[in-house]
Amino acid sequence: MISAVNHLGIAVRDLEKSMELFRTIFRVESFHREVVEEQKVSIASFKIGDVLVELTAPTSEDSPIAKFLDKRGEGIHHIAFSADNVNAELSRLADDGIQLIDATAKQGAHNMLIGFLHPKATNGVLMELCQQQ
Ligand code: CO
Repeated sequence: MISAVNHLGIAVRDLEKSMELFRTIFRVESFHREVVEEQKVSIASFKIGDVLVELTAPTSEDSPIAKFLDKRGEGIHHIAFSADNVNAELSRLADDGIQLIDATAKQGAHNMLIGFLHPKATNGVLMELCQQQ
């Protein structure tokens, strides 16, 4: 079951500058910092209520976030929803004819299993399903 909005991913070029900006806007006291090697990203996240805001910067030129920034510029990158079983949801969606980026779950930040739907299938909005391990 897909239950709640878990986090918003925001693509940024300069993580330090972006943290400074969001610190000012939301009075963020501390960020969770993490590098996700598999995605080639460095993230800084903070919570607003129950929802995480995840500032995401590329760690290399061939990072998917680097490609996104080149094409679309900075901004909302994806919306992530909590699921109790990401793999089950991905196969259900595939059965329903929804185009996916990930047929099976992979490792994401915050020790979560994640899987992306294809934005072509979701009105141009990149959507992620995530499951706490
Ligand atoms: Co995410």
